[in-house]
Amino acid sequence: MPTPIKLGWIGTGRMGYEMAARLAKGGCDLAVWNRTRAKAEPLAKYGAKVVDKLSELASKDIVFVMVSTWDDVKEVVEKLLAGGGKPKMVVECSSISLEGSAELRQMLKGKGVEYLAAPVSGNAKVIKAGKLTFVVSGPKAAYDTARPYLDMMGTGSSYVGEGELARIAKICHNVLLGVVIQNLCEVTILAQKAGMPRHAFLDFLNKSVMGSMFTRYKAPALVNLDFHVTFTPKLLRKDLDLGLDAGRELEVPMPLTSLTRDLLQQMIGQGMTEQDFSTLLLAQAKASGIELKPENVPVGDGLSS
Ligand SMILES: NC(=O)c1ccc[n+]([C@@H]2O[C@H](COP(=O)([O-])OP(=O)(O)OC[C@H]3O[C@@H](n4cnc5c(N)ncnc54)[C@H](OP(=O)(O)O)[C@@H]3O)[C@@H](O)[C@H]2O)c1
Repeated sequence: MPTPIKLGWIGTGRMGYEMAARLAKGGCDLAVWNRTRAKAEPLAKYGAKVVDKLSELASKDIVFVMVSTWDDVKEVVEKLLAGGGKPKMVVECSSISLEGSAELRQMLKGKGVEYLAAPVSGNAKVIKAGKLTFVVSGPKAAYDTARPYLDMMGTGSSYVGEGELARIAKICHNVLLGVVIQNLCEVTILAQKAGMPRHAFLDFLNKSVMGSMFTRYKAPALVNLDFHVTFTPKLLRKDLDLGLDAGRELEVPMPLTSLTRDLLQQMIGQGMTEQDFSTLLLAQAKASGIELKPENVPVGDGLSS
């Protein structure tokens, strides 16, 4: 979709790279910056311009941000604005706290820059399959302007209202992700220890009413122990902590989240930090006294056609 609107992109990690690639492949006028420039360079083949300095993105209409934590977001946005220029709008897609998001809104408001909080659901593979979704909050008119670009990156967006509401929706989503992966690992190990292959159990589960896009795309990891990183235990711990903080603030008990957070912490404490968060399966197997082996069975992820 060729367009006169000029887009900027900050952060081409696992998620940001694939999201920016969809905009570039869609024909957008896109300039990209990443701290480690080499990770952004392959985007040039889709027509994106890779820039050296963040301030080079300040003249764009919409700048998307996809880095890691609130501290990282703050650092890149400060550098974006440091040269005196300012984009018309910032769309911040990283998973950050409500407080961080509110501080960013104030910071941008002071400069007259529109701001949308737009965290996402899906991993890099989901983006490649065109199934990423956004939850968005901020001024409705700004959302209407940004919406066509959000749509180009996946299956669409849900507008939930003003302010930082999208942050709480995303935190709720990732709390569910953490609790579901923990329980999925528990029942998969239970089924295996009772005597059935993991692939047979997950085949049943994924065809059942309990199967979901998530349980399907995690099946290859759980069956063949392919722990290629999609999302790290530390990033998931951050989101569970954000959920527990919000629960304390709003006086909502979250017992399952607390327990899941501690199980994840045990895993991180044992040094299981670099692989995918689905290595919770290994921790569960160890706690159950069984040794896991890859089943080496072809298992679909529900994403590839
Ligand atoms: N992975 C998932 O499945 C998933 C799903 C939904 C949401 N999220 C959220 O999306 C965000 C990105 O996740 P990811 O998996 O793409 O992480 P990632 O692969 O670790 O990428 C992080 C990106 O942020 C950049 N960055 C971090 N700190 C920075 C700083 N201080 N200054 C400049 N750049 C900085 C990194 O630059 P370098 O390349 O130089 O390191 C990299 O481009 C996180 O908030 C995460 O919670 C992830």
